[in-house]
Amino acid sequence: MTADFSPPANNEPHSPNLFVEPLSYRIHGGDGQAYLGNTPLSQLAAHHGTPLYVLDGATVKAAAHAYQHTLENHYPGEHLVLYAAKANLNIGLAQKIGQLGLGLDVVSGGELYTALQAGFPPEKICFNGNNKSADELLMALHHRIGRITVDNLDELALLHELAASSGRTADDRVPILVRITPGIECHTHDYIQTGQNDSKFGVDLSELPTLVHQLTTEYADTIELKGLHAHIGSQIFERQPYIDSAKLLLNIYANIRKHHADIVLTDLNLGGGMGIAYTKGDDPLPIPATLGFIATIVADYCELIDYPLPRLLVEPGRSLMATAGLTLYTVGSQKTVPNTRHYVAVDGGMGDNIRPALYGAEYHAVVANKASEAHTLSGTHPARIVGKYCESGDVVIPEAKLPANVTRGDILAVFGTGAYNDSMASTYNRVPRPATIWVEGDAIIPLVRRETYDDLLARDIPLK
Ligand code: LLP
Repeated sequence: MTADFSPPANNEPHSPNLFVEPLSYRIHGGDGQAYLGNTPLSQLAAHHGTPLYVLDGATVKAAAHAYQHTLENHYPGEHLVLYAAKANLNIGLAQKIGQLGLGLDVVSGGELYTALQAGFPPEKICFNGNNKSADELLMALHHRIGRITVDNLDELALLHELAASSGRTADDRVPILVRITPGIECHTHDYIQTGQNDSKFGVDLSELPTLVHQLTTEYADTIELKGLHAHIGSQIFERQPYIDSAKLLLNIYANIRKHHADIVLTDLNLGGGMGIAYTKGDDPLPIPATLGFIATIVADYCELIDYPLPRLLVEPGRSLMATAGLTLYTVGSQKTVPNTRHYVAVDGGMGDNIRPALYGAEYHAVVANKASEAHTLSGTHPARIVGKYCESGDVVIPEAKLPANVTRGDILAVFGTGAYNDSMASTYNRVPRPATIWVEGDAIIPLVRRETYDDLLARDIPLK
């Protein structure tokens, strides 16, 4: 069974974020099984155990291609797509990302350390975060990573001190971006919206004159401002906020140049945030058309204000990785509350996917070993898929469409879990975290092994 990954008819790249299932997902009529690559999901579950995170290599590659190809075709200047590591990171995945030619956006010493251990090129790493510690900044300085995105004036002062004490001089300044709060609101969950004025992230626009003054006086010999950064939020379904944000940044560039002829900013970082379809009802933006439009507007606007084309940076996390991922669970206990509801419990839940509990996030699922059977909402007794954690909010899907004969041992596949699942996983209830595998054609590559009970004990210090 070979899947067709050729581009759609209009020759634009695939936009995997538009689909709920990964690109190489197929239901095989012969055995009624769901496949990823060339392997039945139930076989992956049997060999690797459940819960299991599975990443579809074809989907990751298609999403990376969509970003890169679009910028190549629609942006006449330099550009770099930085994968937002917070979505999902391990050493093997960092290596895959590096092989695809992407850069990496990290937000902690742990993410940076993982990237460096993976041999990720430091010059393609950008370090974000609103409260980087001195140790984290020193690690970044020591490895001479590509950009540090300074989040506030306090951090700028700290970075200056550290740069000076690390011997950085006027010929060897630390290249930074500065994250600003663009004051742009977009319609997404409050917790994942970041661009509005009252935000813990970024420098307020009113503080920009002070910032530029400091950079041109006391910090002039240690720090070099390369550009600004704005991230307006996550799971965004509108393109206008990106346009507004890009124009706002470029107006600031022009304004800075007006007052400081020597400061020409060469990088423009528009952050991440493009949304994906978690369910069939979601209607996200196609990556090629949207990014192509944004890139064209940036290029046109630069021409209009006579500003040299900056290197365009974007930082997608979810739209590069979420659709590639699915989680396999094994069905365990079931029960019916008379006249109310049917409960189907699986062997994972809020420990491996906190998003339903945290954001009310919705997911789509199939029973992978019965994939060709009709999946329906069972009328009077809607089925609720729940996890195994000791918490009532541990719900995977509140009202799920399932085959009528779901039974213990069936393998449930939940889609769209490639981003913000493993990276936000916990060992709540001392349940070990799942393994991750990468599937591509016939190849099955383990990326993360399953956590063991002994791993859970590894940090414990028994009393003497
Ligand atoms: N750049 C910056 C500065 C960010 O803060 C983020 C996400 C990204 C890029 C990547 O955004 P993406 O393309 O993935 O939307 N835990 C939440 C998402 C939090 C996103 C935080 N920042 C969730 O599970 O939905």
